[in-house]
Amino acid sequence: MAYTAADCVRARKDFPALDRPGPGPALCYLDGPGGSQVPRAVIDAIADVYTLCNVNTHGQFGPSQEVDRRMDAARGAVAALLGAADGHCISFGQNMTTLNFSLSAAIGRGLRPGDEVVITELDHEANRGPWLRLAGSGVVVREVRLLPNGLLDYGDLQDKITPRTRVLALGMASNAIGTVNDIALARRLTRAVGALLVVDAVHYAPHLPLDVQALEVDFLLCSAYKFYGPHVGILYSAPGALDGLATDRLSTQDPAAPFRIETGTLNHAAIWGVHAAIEYFAGFGSGVALRDRLLAAMRDISAYERGLARFYHDAVRELPGARVYGPDFSGGARAPTVSITQARRTAAQAAAALAAQNICVWDGNFYAARAVEVLGAAECGGLLRTGVSLYTTEDELRRLLTALADM
Ligand SMILES: Cc1ncc(COP(=O)(O)O)c(C=O)c1O
Repeated sequence: MAYTAADCVRARKDFPALDRPGPGPALCYLDGPGGSQVPRAVIDAIADVYTLCNVNTHGQFGPSQEVDRRMDAARGAVAALLGAADGHCISFGQNMTTLNFSLSAAIGRGLRPGDEVVITELDHEANRGPWLRLAGSGVVVREVRLLPNGLLDYGDLQDKITPRTRVLALGMASNAIGTVNDIALARRLTRAVGALLVVDAVHYAPHLPLDVQALEVDFLLCSAYKFYGPHVGILYSAPGALDGLATDRLSTQDPAAPFRIETGTLNHAAIWGVHAAIEYFAGFGSGVALRDRLLAAMRDISAYERGLARFYHDAVRELPGARVYGPDFSGGARAPTVSITQARRTAAQAAAALAAQNICVWDGNFYAARAVEVLGAAECGGLLRTGVSLYTTEDELRRLLTALADM
């Protein structure tokens, strides 16, 4: 069963923000890579926690046990989304960046001067900065080159992985230009030298199916506000991977996974919202098990998003003075995110002109600063990025194309 334009029109009614009253034409949210809108079910789930069980976990009384039950269910739902064995592999945090700082610090405590960590030029700063910080304690940080075509230089990756490599921190999909990276190759290379593989799937998770067990990653991070949920960071740890790490934690804290890296009291209401977002997404698929429904929904929505992104990609590159970055849609996996520069205006000027027409797109480097620099787009003010979400329509993309053509 495909996800069609008619399904999209129906789904849009689930997102109150898409109906936001205000002056001018309807708001057109094409900034999903920056953060997606949330369906009513997520808003209701958050309110539900504040209404029914706004208490701390692990108490003896009913509402506390209710919030325990919801936290367990949320971990289970995320496990189903990622293909993890169970909820014990799922830790929550403030956002991906904060979790990755905690993870890199914990791993870093076990490294010695001269040990090597490999990062890439393509990655979001959230999967570079936390690892670059380890250089201060004598760890050697190597960067895999980004090629002008927007793909990683896999020859360079092979060269940079050495017997001293302890960690490869790699993005799964670029939030700036949509490139999808070869995680299977990364796993083979890291496995051969006994290094950990840490994957940033923040931009991948909303668009393409994940199977952490098939990928055999040690750690994978994502962020629920990119897949129609609230602002919650998620860390997947392979069974046992978290156990030996010297995480920042209190002596009173449960040292077992998944709690070992979770400091303080979590945002229970938002985490229950993550559960609702996953259930909402699964509602587009059929099957009995949550994982099956999620995979079916992901397959269909992914094809819809790719079709729209390809339509926009192929049309925008025909505009005079426009240059499109990253791989095109003729090959394999690619996120539905398309970035351009224009000859006669900066991305910020274009984004401001579009904003005046209620078209929301992002400009700049989106924290993928090194990638934008390597691609030569930093001096001209960065990229103008368009993201396709499950609620994006072809009409919205046509509106964007017309506005760009009229500028
Ligand atoms: C690819 C990628 N990685 C990491 C992050 C950081 O995520 P968070 O905002 O949850 O820290 C983002 C945010 O835009 C992203 O797009």
